[in-house]
Amino acid sequence: MGTILVNDQFLDRENGSVDIEDRGYQFGDGVYEVVRVYGGNMFTAKEHLERLFESAEKIHLTLPFTYDELVARLEKLMEVNQLDTGIIYLQVTRGSSARQHHFPEQTKAVLTAYTKEVARPVADMTAGVKAIITDDVRWLRCDIKSLNLLGNLLAKQEAVSKGGFEAVLHRDGTVTEGSSSNVFIISGDTLYTHPATNLILNGITRREILKLCKEIGLSVAEQAFTLEALANADEVFMASTTAEVMPLVQLDETPVGNGKPGEWTQKLQAAFEEAVQKQCGSLAQTI
Ligand code: PDD
Repeated sequence: MGTILVNDQFLDRENGSVDIEDRGYQFGDGVYEVVRVYGGNMFTAKEHLERLFESAEKIHLTLPFTYDELVARLEKLMEVNQLDTGIIYLQVTRGSSARQHHFPEQTKAVLTAYTKEVARPVADMTAGVKAIITDDVRWLRCDIKSLNLLGNLLAKQEAVSKGGFEAVLHRDGTVTEGSSSNVFIISGDTLYTHPATNLILNGITRREILKLCKEIGLSVAEQAFTLEALANADEVFMASTTAEVMPLVQLDETPVGNGKPGEWTQKLQAAFEEAVQKQCGSLAQTI
């Protein structure tokens, strides 16, 4: 995992450096993606990389590479690092210039990427995890996968300090998403999740799950739901690139249902594994 990508250069990690006036470093002025790798193959790469281009456009950042160039570089990065099961983290910042808040006329965007071995969280996915509920204090452009994550970090830290895995966020009693995931409830035979507006990140895992619901016969309502609906739900889960379909079996101090992953959630987990296997030809359980 010792090789990193800086623009079109492959460097030893020790030789990478960040300019002190890089706008990503000073302002969080940039965008990022996390792509899952199973058996040496990227899962839903197209969706992730297209979202990177969309996020960049939303912050008026022109990416200095084509989609195909980016794919080729990431493929090579995985290969040189011999990544089997893990993630690729990639980010693009607006680059360096004398510090000023408004966008400089001329900067060269900086792409960096690295790989990391990350096992599938099989034990947590089997048993389910605890989440806490907290206020969504973030800005109004959560649809952008921006490097600015302080609002998310504060919520995650609160969750971890209370023994939780995730924080479920709400605005005035309406659930939006998790601090680093999307959140879903199932009531009866219907799955509810916040619509893909400016208030959430339209997760790639979320999109995959909505497709899988059709396959397994679970109705989908992309409708915002309240804290009350969350408390009364039969099943609750979160989803993200790294956590996949992760059952939430406790919210604050209250168990969800019987405190075990629900049946629909387990069906979605199985369908998700199948989708990964189909696309990546492998599903390593451990590394
Ligand atoms: N986080 N919502 C937020 C706020 C997120 O940060 C993420 C992912 C998601 C789920 O998106 P996806 O399914 O595309 O991973 C939703 C990544 C994994 C992270 O920051 O590490």
